[in-house]
Amino acid sequence: MSCSTKLLISCLLALSASLALGSKAMAQDRKGLNNVYKKYFTIGVAVTPRELKSEEAGLITKEFGSVTPENAMKMGPIHPQQDRFYWTDADSIVAFAQRNKMKVRGHTLCWHAQTPRWLFVDSAGKDVSKEVLLKRLHDHINEVVTRYKGKIYAWDVVNEAIADDSTYLRRSKWYQICGEDFIAKAFEYAHEADPKAILFYNDYNTEIPAKREKILKLLKSLIAKKVPINGVGLQAHWSVSTPSREELERSIKEFSALGLQVQFTELDISVYAGRQGGQLVQGQQPTGSSAFTPEMEQQQLEKYKMVFDVFRQYRKKITGVTFWNVSDRYTWLNGRGRKNYPLLFDAELQPKKAYWEVVKF
Ligand code: G3I
Repeated sequence: MSCSTKLLISCLLALSASLALGSKAMAQDRKGLNNVYKKYFTIGVAVTPRELKSEEAGLITKEFGSVTPENAMKMGPIHPQQDRFYWTDADSIVAFAQRNKMKVRGHTLCWHAQTPRWLFVDSAGKDVSKEVLLKRLHDHINEVVTRYKGKIYAWDVVNEAIADDSTYLRRSKWYQICGEDFIAKAFEYAHEADPKAILFYNDYNTEIPAKREKILKLLKSLIAKKVPINGVGLQAHWSVSTPSREELERSIKEFSALGLQVQFTELDISVYAGRQGGQLVQGQQPTGSSAFTPEMEQQQLEKYKMVFDVFRQYRKKITGVTFWNVSDRYTWLNGRGRKNYPLLFDAELQPKKAYWEVVKF
């Protein structure tokens, strides 16, 4: 190797070392999202048990003040058989939060998706009666909420019970067997198990007026019946095209007017336009490449800037903002051959330009 090649190599090594140091120094200089927003609301993140044992763990504790199990506490994963719970994953998330003095949002006690096979049927495979199903709901909620009593400060008790079509309530198995009653009962059972937990109804597309009206109707009816509900979770699976500032403000105003806490529980901003993260539906093929283009970066940055501006403006009404996944390394929005980049950290776990817009105010 010639002298000049050696010199070039050592220069490159020195440069890359100083770049690495530079990015480390930057990471140390960062206060972290939750600290920046300390006087506003808690900032949390949805996590998997694997991430808590990986490189992501440092980023999670640095940037966030609360964790939500992305899947580990849903009925299917945590209660796979009627007489058997699977606690390992959920326990590891709660233990991580305790070790790091973070809050936990429990998600979710009653949902139509990710339910265990045994839940709605008897041993002959026939639908159980309403009484049996409500008893199963009670026992499930009692077991899970009691286990984490005092460690989980808030629960998404009922998730997505409102229909997307013109009907009022989703025609789920819960609804088919129990009618509307399962919703109020779920809140009562959760309150009975942990009277101090803050109990939420959680749903998506809450900025669409027709859906919002139906959610408001449900919440008002629960409040009128003195059901123990404390908050509404607005999921916030948004995109570069939605919501508008007006839609978002209107949602916050209308939901908080009920006297409930408002939290944004599943925030991400897809780089593809459309509601619910602009997801591809069955049969739809991705068009173009899956690269994160400068246009996407700019549009996403503007949307993040706008929504956090609104969040700050309504800080008195909002008690939490939770991101749905940690970084663009893994997002539930990837799929059908298309990659998405909906979060504030890139696949290398570094803050994106949008991050700096969110902390700059
Ligand atoms: O755990 C199984 C694994 O055993 C199996 O081998 C593998 C094969 O596909 O699937 C694994 O389960 C997947 C699970 O995520 C865990 O990775 C399910 O197929 C998959 O459907 C499931 O997706 C989750 C989705 O809810 C289910 O509807 C996403 O991770 C999760 O981000 C998403 O979260 C929901 C919120 O709970 C409610 N609001 C909407 C939000 C986004 O859909």
